[in-house]
Amino acid sequence: MEYSENFVNRLLQSKRLVILTGAGTSAESGIATFRDPEGLWSKFDPLELASIDGFLANPKLVWEWYQYRVNIINNAKPNGGHLAITELQKIKDNLVIVTQNVDRLHQKAGSKNVIELHGDIITNRCFDCEKQYLGKTLLPNNELPKCNFCNGKIRPNVVWFGEQLPQKAISDSENHAKKSDVFLIAGTSSEVYPAAGLSYLAKQYGSFVIEINPNETNFSSSADYIIREKSSHAFQNILNILKD
Ligand code: APR
Repeated sequence: MEYSENFVNRLLQSKRLVILTGAGTSAESGIATFRDPEGLWSKFDPLELASIDGFLANPKLVWEWYQYRVNIINNAKPNGGHLAITELQKIKDNLVIVTQNVDRLHQKAGSKNVIELHGDIITNRCFDCEKQYLGKTLLPNNELPKCNFCNGKIRPNVVWFGEQLPQKAISDSENHAKKSDVFLIAGTSSEVYPAAGLSYLAKQYGSFVIEINPNETNFSSSADYIIREKSSHAFQNILNILKD
């Protein structure tokens, strides 16, 4: 795909580039998205597995489901898109990465200053006293791990449906969106708020908003430029443009 001159110029001249990523940017690392035809929500019920009520109703099932996802993620490698974004960060000062993903593949690819809107699946905390636990805490007999401080149930640090996003993450992201001159959203269906609202906020504050997604999304009609490609391909092309 040839990119328009206007797009290329905007990219080259951008001084405050923000990249918002969703599950689609990890799809090429073998991690299932949520709303694609074979996505996680076509097989599992989010309210049963990604909500406080679901956890309280069946904590062991929820824990096993997250352990299943962690095992996939621990074996996943950053793909060309993650790696290109890391290189972009070396070329473009102030490049901010805001992610909805919990797989930490941006960090694994060497990206810095990644804002995690939906927490992460690698670290855990006690549901009751909030004591933090790093990494997996599954007991040998596959039992639900308990807090060694208050004996509460341990849960992943992922933000569940109905929960507030980390306050600093969302307020920093909103500030970056407002100040951005180019706002690039990649691999997201733009269906989940407040994350999806960042693209509209950026546009409202005059940013040139680009969508990278092989499929149309709720945001497509508001995008200033659309790249209907997979994220690894698009980010490698963008890196080549900026390197030249
Ligand atoms: N490159 C770019 N985009 C892709 C690729 C790819 N290789 N493969 C799929 N996509 C696109 C799909 O077209 C879809 O628009 O990625 C998007 C994935 O959408 P979702 O599965 O809804 O994922 P996301 O937008 O990140 O979901 C947001 O919802 O369930 C919650 O907390 C969860 O963070 C998640 C949030």
